[in-house]
This record gives sequence, structure tokens and C-alpha cells, in this order.
Amino acid sequence: MSTAYRKNQTIKDFGEQWLRYRDSDGFYGSMELFSDVIYPFLKFSDIKDCKVAEIGSGAGRIVNMLLEAGAKHVIATEPSDAFEVLCQNIQQPEKVSCLKITGDQLPSYGDLDYVFSVGVLHHIPDPVPVVEAAFKALCPGGHFLVWLYGKEGNALYLAIIDPLRVFTKRLPHFMLSFLVEITYWPLVLYIKFCHLLPLPLKDYMLSILEKMSPEKRRLIIYDQLNPSYAKYYTRQEAEKLLIDGKFENVRIHHRHGYSWTVIGTKPAV
Ligand SMILES: C[S@@+](CC[C@H](N)C(=O)[O-])C[C@H]1O[C@@H](n2cnc3c(N)ncnc32)[C@H](O)[C@@H]1O
Repeated sequence: MSTAYRKNQTIKDFGEQWLRYRDSDGFYGSMELFSDVIYPFLKFSDIKDCKVAEIGSGAGRIVNMLLEAGAKHVIATEPSDAFEVLCQNIQQPEKVSCLKITGDQLPSYGDLDYVFSVGVLHHIPDPVPVVEAAFKALCPGGHFLVWLYGKEGNALYLAIIDPLRVFTKRLPHFMLSFLVEITYWPLVLYIKFCHLLPLPLKDYMLSILEKMSPEKRRLIIYDQLNPSYAKYYTRQEAEKLLIDGKFENVRIHHRHGYSWTVIGTKPAV
């Protein structure tokens, strides 16, 4: 399968996903979760009064979090049919510009303080042009914060999910929803056992997944099984993405032992 096919198919998959899972209620859309996503590199006060962009906004929860943190203006980008959902979900539309574009098409503003990309680059087969676009959109001294799936800490999970995804990414919605239902209850049980035993992904289960509503846990299972393309990054690959993109002071955090938060700064001229 070509890179272009996988890129377009993944965008199509997400369009269908967000048209079905439209809201961001509870912990899933909370400032508590946002604080966890940007930790340990940023606090809400760093974002206050800043001009920012998000690449791959989906149904808009991160855009609303950025607004609640006090961002002055947010460029929200989403290439899929979910663009309609994004526009409907924005809480302070006067402070947001919504663009139906892919990440590599982010305009070269050159004056943004931050670009965020949360859970997106690992769904793009060739993320390099997206990193380049983020670089050009930032002001000198501006920051790019990325959250990515991690390879380290996910060995057992990947041994199960990788072969499963070969089939699930091709399933129509009604079959995928059925699969989500039969996976949901074993997951609930697994979370309970994590309180008793040092099981794989325990930190993620107890810090993140247990706090989600039943509906959002179902969305997260769906989100794992649905997209055509998903890559799990090693620490080295995650750092290299930003270092090769000419960012400096690249720092990385192993978030809850299963994913990477990476931040880099555009050199001041
Ligand atoms: C897992 S969702 C994350 C959405 C949002 N950032 C959040 O955390 O709720 C990934 C999003 O990336 C978008 N996406 C996929 N390929 C993209 C591309 N090439 N450029 C920009 N966004 C893309 C998808 O359409 C989808 O909405």
C-alpha cells in the first residue's frame, strides 16, 4: 500500500470516527487531562495570551483546552470530515480559526508561540513535512509540543494489538462497535486487577483510563482498532523527529510509561 493511500485512508477513518464520537465530556476533555498531556514541560500560564495552532484537532477537545488555558488565538486544523464536528464544538469561536487542511499545509505564519500535535503524528506515514510546516509557522523561540504513542512499555500490548489491527482497521463501523463491546468488559476487569498486581500498562490504566467514562473508554478502544495507520515510536525515533526538523533544546518525557511527550524550540535568530 502506498504512503499516500495510507495517509488518505487514515484521514477517512478518523472522519468516520469523530462523526460517531462527537463530544469530549468528562475527564477526556478536562483540564486535568490537558495538564497531564503537557507535563512536565508546560503549565497553563505558559499558554496564556499566546497565539497557538493545533495540528489534527479531531472533535476539538485540545482546542477547547488551549482556550481554557487562556490562549489568545488558536488555529485549529483538521483534514477529515470531522471538520464539521470540530467547528460545532469550539467553545469560543471568536478566538479560533478553523482550517480544513493536512498538517503539512499549515500556513507559514512565522509568528505562533506554540504548535501542538496531540496523538496525530503517529497516524501520519510521512510526518517530516508536518514537522517542517510546524517549524515555519512558529516564531523564533516558539515551541512545538508533540504527543506520540511509545514503543517502550507497550511490548505485550503491541503483541496483541498489531495482529488484531490487520483485521480491525478494515471492519465497517457496526462490526467494530460490536468488537468494542466484547473488549470493553475484559478491559474493565483488567483495570480492577491493576489495583492489585503490577500488570503491564498499570500506570496508564490507573492514571488515565480508569478516570474515563464508559463511553470514552469505548471510544479509546475504537480509536486503537480503527485507523489504517498507527506507528509506535521508540524514544530515539521520537527525539529524532524534532531534532531532524531543526528544533533545538529537544526534551522528551516517557508519559505514564507508554507514550512520549516531546518538545522542541525553534532557534531564535
Ligand atoms: C487521535 S486523533 C487526535 C485528535 C485530537 N488531537 C485529540 O487529541 O483529541 C488524530 C487526528 O489527526 C488527524 N489527522 C490524520 N492525518 C492527518 C494529517 N495528515 N494531517 C493532519 N491531521 C491528520 C485525524 O483526522 C484525527 O482527527
